[in-house]
Amino acid sequence: MLPKINPIQTAAWKALDQQFANNDFELRTLFQYNPNRFQEFSLETENYLFDYSKNLVDAKTLDLLLQLAEETQLKEAIRKMFSGDKINETEGRAVLHTALRDFSDKEILVDGENIKPAIKKVLDHMKTFSESVISGSHKGFTGKEITDVVNVGIGGSDLGPVMVCSALKHFKTRLNVHFVSNVDGNHMAEVVKDLNPETTLFIIASKTFTTQETMTNANSAKEWFLKSGAKDEDVAKHFVALSTNIEAVKKFGIAEENIFEFWDWVGGRYSLWSAIGLSIVLSVGYENFEQLLKGANDTDVHFQTKDFKENIPVLMGVLGVWYRNFYAAGTYAILPYSQYLDRFSAYLQQGDMESNGKSVDRNGEFVTYETGPIIWGEPGTNGQHAFYQLIHQGTELIPADFIAYAKSPNEVGEHQDILLANYFAQTEALAFGKTHEEVYEELKASGKTEEEIEKLLNYKIFAGNTPTNSFLFKELTPFSLGQLIALYEHKIFVQGVIWNIFSFDQFGVELGKVLAGKILPELDTEGQVETHDSSTNGLINFYKSNR
Ligand code: F6P
Repeated sequence: MLPKINPIQTAAWKALDQQFANNDFELRTLFQYNPNRFQEFSLETENYLFDYSKNLVDAKTLDLLLQLAEETQLKEAIRKMFSGDKINETEGRAVLHTALRDFSDKEILVDGENIKPAIKKVLDHMKTFSESVISGSHKGFTGKEITDVVNVGIGGSDLGPVMVCSALKHFKTRLNVHFVSNVDGNHMAEVVKDLNPETTLFIIASKTFTTQETMTNANSAKEWFLKSGAKDEDVAKHFVALSTNIEAVKKFGIAEENIFEFWDWVGGRYSLWSAIGLSIVLSVGYENFEQLLKGANDTDVHFQTKDFKENIPVLMGVLGVWYRNFYAAGTYAILPYSQYLDRFSAYLQQGDMESNGKSVDRNGEFVTYETGPIIWGEPGTNGQHAFYQLIHQGTELIPADFIAYAKSPNEVGEHQDILLANYFAQTEALAFGKTHEEVYEELKASGKTEEEIEKLLNYKIFAGNTPTNSFLFKELTPFSLGQLIALYEHKIFVQGVIWNIFSFDQFGVELGKVLAGKILPELDTEGQVETHDSSTNGLINFYKSNR
């Protein structure tokens, strides 16, 4: 069980309150008075540079933030997570996605049983199966090779694989991997429209194998497949399942040898490292998947062993707490300067918001401080031409992470320097802005009259002082992607521990599911629905008379 410490009662929190009240951190001044700021507030690892110097902190604030992590017993919490303690207390489960990427000989026990052999067995299964599909030795029901794979899943059974397959497009095998998640039948319809049932493999990915969206889509996929003239016994060649619920999978009609198992100690939003990663394996090959796991494990080791001062997920976590709880920043932007990471923010939205979007603490009491921020973002430079205006000149403080890669996998000529120039420029502009004097001088130099300057001046000022972290990786590889994803997983963990909340349940998604279950049969009845509030009745009845 995790410690249950109210963070605002700690000495560090109280000191941070003072620190916030007594200081008005200005990035311009912080850099001006400390020529070594970059050296002091950045860390370099073998594969990447983490620059956190453009944050609204001085050394004392950072010390206090790290003291907060100490006082909330983060070290103990880390140890507990990695050793299989049932820290997901509300669901009575261990949290061991990290075991899935631990290739060491170390035993990890759950209920007294070493889980490593079972993990290895599933990985071996994923390897042999994927090799047979990629090589073409696995044939469809008419003897043809598989060309297309459709992963049917939602939430954690979709977002992780979607994000990774997009990020590692450059490492693609000959297979085309598609994803269907939305219960909107048009998602499936548009994906299968151009596919041939004889050469299509469906992966039904669902931890519980009860999720309405996925089961509806899985049934439609089976119907589409059987409509092609295939027989029930052909399903075995075209459908595999990834699940913890073996009985439900068998009931659906998927053969036992086509089930890739995982376990209740893998949370849905942390499951891309498990059998849920089968679509990734088919998309980029087993070796690359193993590299992804090894990269994540590299971060796991870093997280467990580094002193907090040099521990990147810990630093990311405490800086996020600083903005959320002291600066009242309600949102946090993730801005990757890589088209390959086009789904990274969407993936982190589930990772972060489903984990830390909580308001009851580990003592069962309602919290009196803010918890998880809204996570959002799009790849730069597209975001620059959409929402950066508000980050630069709006009224919200929006801290942001900037992620980029020094090398481009494709030979892209001048594009790479242009992309990176924008990546560097944006954090510089956000940090230092443009002052009244600078705008004045600029307008004057452009030949404007005093009157014209007066009219325009305020509009052209950039307040700056927007904090950012910069991650600059040498290269986008499966290994470095694994490192990056795990950094964020652990950042979320750090914040959950400090906020004294349970990060591994998600009861907040249930009410809507239950109500949808009640409404569905009402859509099938004759006449007006009157069982809800007037708004919901009105909407349902409008739908019924217009569908
Ligand atoms: O959104 C709720 C949730 O339970 C997620 O945590 C999970 O990733 C998703 O639904 C899908 O669940 P399953 O894999 O069981 O279909």
